[in-house]
Amino acid sequence: MKNILFIASEAVPFIKTGGLADVCGSLPKYFNKDEYDVRVMLPKYLAINEKYRNEMRYIGNFSIDLAWRNQYVGLFEMDYDGVKFYFIDNEYYFAGNKPYGNIYEDIEKFAFFSKAALSAIPLTGFKPDVVHCHDWQTGLIPVYLKERFSQGEFYKDIKSVMTIHNLKFQGVWDLKAVKDITGLDDSYFTQDKLEAYGDANYLKGGLVYADYITTVSDSYAQEIKMPFYGEGLDGLINARSNSLMGIVNGIDYDEYNPETDTRILKNYNQINFRKEKYKNKVALQKELGLEVGKEKFMVGIVSRLTDQKGLDLVQYVMDEMCCHDDIQLVVLGTGEERYENMFRHFEWKYNGRVSANIFYSEDLSHKIYAACDAFLMPSLFEPCGLSQLMSLRYGTVPIVRETGGLRDTVEPYNEYESTGTGFSFANYNAHEMLNAVQYAKYVFYNKKREWNKIVDRAMLADFSWNVSARKYENLYSNLTE
Ligand code: ADP
Ligand code: GLC
Repeated sequence: MKNILFIASEAVPFIKTGGLADVCGSLPKYFNKDEYDVRVMLPKYLAINEKYRNEMRYIGNFSIDLAWRNQYVGLFEMDYDGVKFYFIDNEYYFAGNKPYGNIYEDIEKFAFFSKAALSAIPLTGFKPDVVHCHDWQTGLIPVYLKERFSQGEFYKDIKSVMTIHNLKFQGVWDLKAVKDITGLDDSYFTQDKLEAYGDANYLKGGLVYADYITTVSDSYAQEIKMPFYGEGLDGLINARSNSLMGIVNGIDYDEYNPETDTRILKNYNQINFRKEKYKNKVALQKELGLEVGKEKFMVGIVSRLTDQKGLDLVQYVMDEMCCHDDIQLVVLGTGEERYENMFRHFEWKYNGRVSANIFYSEDLSHKIYAACDAFLMPSLFEPCGLSQLMSLRYGTVPIVRETGGLRDTVEPYNEYESTGTGFSFANYNAHEMLNAVQYAKYVFYNKKREWNKIVDRAMLADFSWNVSARKYENLYSNLTE
């Protein structure tokens, strides 16, 4: 039996700001349980729903030194859906109504979490062969593990894996402050370790010290070796390319299943979608105050509203896209004010045709995945992307830019060979995107049988965790042999 401990800053169903939570909450369920015992350690945020907080069982407490402070660490556990979760408690660091605040607070919060998580492992009674860290919030863990903990008998054989879910966020802060907070001395803050461009960089530390690095698609693993996607760390990524692999994300096929989903009006499957799926569209049109008509081409966007997601392209051609009444756009998302207001504006301008839902809602997200005909995701960069996988599963045809995981998971429609699961465009160009949308709309209205075959193939594509979980299993085995 191999023991694996995920350490992460978010996981469903406890706390989620994006795809990281989907991955850390669902992947552990899909390992071969006879051979891999995979558990998850998270912060015990006050923002976690009461219902879950009340179910957590207290294991014990101790204290650790962080900067000049001596800090309380509580340890709790809970079983959820066949997976054991551990929670690190400290009400000073994990207060507030969301997991992240300003970067200054977060830098200290996640130094605390990293040190506390490693220190708490012996108390769990679970001895991991591998700690698997996710994104910059856990970047210090491989550093602390190798430099501070591995002298101890308990820790000395533990390997570390660092997964990059998004290279854009690195946990960068003033070097001197980080030195104080982490208790790491000058020798760690050099260019070959935690320093980058004059600042301290948590993710860089993780990438230098981890035994192995993964990221969430093959294409992104290649892209981040280049300056355009490398976010200043492409040199390091190249240097470590022998210990780097892309493993594409899956989604939770139990949670995202149009046949059993209780959040949608009408369940359907690959056999009966032609007769049933549109009922979800009509229901959503009514719910959101859009013009009702089952023939309308409805396009969805469920997204963090940030530059990463290609929304400036959408903004640029919004008028051209929405000026005819044969298209409807349903948006669900929060993020940069500029984009929130842009969509609010267009909802006002194209009333009945555009619906801007500027909030977070699991329920509405499922309704959109089920109701829409197409899903627009024109990202500037996309390490993997889960929304397009959810769309595929619900037979909602993705329209994507060919980058990162979007390129690896959506096969562009080929009208001559009648293949493909979606529509795509290559360059970061608003009119290329518009062309792809208009081409999709054309096929939807004029070649319905072809369209339905695309939907059919989309629903058949397998992005459950079955394949990728086996790849992680092999990685853990190779690392610990
Ligand atoms: P990222 O992690 O970069 O935000 P992903 O596509 O990997 O992008 O994952 C996004 C996840 O967040 C999906 O589960 C998507 O449904 C969800 N999501 C994003 N915005 C919202 C929202 N406003 N309401 C509900 N779910 C959302
Ligand atoms: C990040 C990426 C997204 C990916 C997710 C889960 O948030 O932006 O592309 O799907 O992590 O790995």
